[in-house]
Amino acid sequence: MKTQYYPTLLLALVLLGACGGSDSTSSLPEGDPAPEPTPPSSRWTLPDALLSYADQPLPRHFEVNDFAEGFQFQNSAIDNDNTPDTNPITDAGATLGRVLFYDPWLSENRSISCANCHQQAVAFSDPRTLSLGVDGGETRRHAMGLGNARFYQSGKFFWDERAETLEQQVLMPIEDPVEMGMTLDDLVERLQSDPFYPPLFADAFGDEAITAERIGRALAQFVRSLVSFNARYDLGRAQVTSPLDPFPNFSDQENQGKALFMRAASCGACHISEAFVGPTPLREAPNIISNATNNGLDAVSSDDLGLAETTGNPLHEGRFKAPSLRNIEVTAPYMHDGRFATLESVVIFYNEGIQPHANLAAVLQEASGAPRRFGFSDQEVQALVAFLRTLTDPQFLTDPRFADPFIAP
Ligand code: HEC
Ligand code: HEC
Repeated sequence: MKTQYYPTLLLALVLLGACGGSDSTSSLPEGDPAPEPTPPSSRWTLPDALLSYADQPLPRHFEVNDFAEGFQFQNSAIDNDNTPDTNPITDAGATLGRVLFYDPWLSENRSISCANCHQQAVAFSDPRTLSLGVDGGETRRHAMGLGNARFYQSGKFFWDERAETLEQQVLMPIEDPVEMGMTLDDLVERLQSDPFYPPLFADAFGDEAITAERIGRALAQFVRSLVSFNARYDLGRAQVTSPLDPFPNFSDQENQGKALFMRAASCGACHISEAFVGPTPLREAPNIISNATNNGLDAVSSDDLGLAETTGNPLHEGRFKAPSLRNIEVTAPYMHDGRFATLESVVIFYNEGIQPHANLAAVLQEASGAPRRFGFSDQEVQALVAFLRTLTDPQFLTDPRFADPFIAP
């Protein structure tokens, strides 16, 4: 029974009436309950056999570090795996996570799911600069892509790393008043009243109990399963021994861009491993315990302090998480505030626009301490952009394991 919702609904109708609304809803016969919403579970389609999430074979170049000596900041993607022992990916757990991810019933008025703001076709980011939440309100920051989030070494989430773990992070949009506007208690009750959910929880966790903790674990398993490694980059990489070698399937321009990215332009210092994720904290100043860095977007942090909002440390102002650059071609607009519409404008920014922020990362400073000016030619800028486009993985963007399991009404 979803008795919980009738009082809210009736109150809304009364309020509508009180505000002078003359729509037909206000003339519902008194005491006549609103029609029961059809549970979304009656329209999802899951295959009889579970799809495979747990045993995704990673390519060799995610499991070993083939960068040369002198690249001390590099490691392999798997070295950065943030999967906790307490929540390994299972096929049933990720399947439940997938259903939850696409279920609009996770939002207060049943209108939006996680996938409204994290769309598969654009690598689970949002083409809008700011996403629209449950009541049409805008989020504060841009929704980044979720691919390869599993390989962010600290395991902290959001642009300002305010979520300590992915298990905690995935519950936060549900409770965020702008994003989904639910309480976890109400969500648990809602899912319990749906005949289709308890069996999915039993498959995933051994019994039918539905708890916020299990919702978080299942969603986190699904998000961690969103690993992308079938781009043209990977096809070329499989044919050579080091990521620094020219790839046979790349154009000269793409190989030139790759060399610039990994060497002269120092991009690889902060977008590390072959999952191209945020840097390890090891090479940062001793008082820094985070993977978030300052890439000089602004000279002064004003409306968004980034990591400092989480830690309260002024040395962390203007530091932000760098999401994986895999599929970056499709996740525009770029940066935490979506300020750049194109990859070209991002590269032009790094080439000539880095600002002298007090916390600017050392790798983006000249020996004098001034912001670095790479002085790349237009042709080199285009080569960097061409390289970034080789990270697009069409298989990931259409993989049925990650797709919406609900049939359109
Ligand atoms: C209304 C839009 C919206 C909805 C709905 C939404 N998100 Fe997000 N998501 C965002 C925005 C915006 C950010 C970045 C916010 C920030 O960092 O401050 C974000 C960040 C994230 C991150 C952090 C990624 C990283 O690398 O740090 C994850 C993971 C995530 N969302 C998963 C989910 C899940 C799971 C759901 C559903 C339970 C969900 N989101 C629902 C907009 C949304
Ligand atoms: C000092 C570390 C650092 C270096 C060096 C660096 N980046 Fe970044 N990069 C970041 C951070 C941090 C962000 C996120 C910043 C934000 O949104 O506030 C970022 C964001 C990006 C984004 C946008 C990501 C998104 O999801 O919106 C792209 C593209 C990018 N960098 C490419 C490059 C390229 C190309 C280079 C080399 C020219 C480079 N980066 C060098 C730290 C760095």
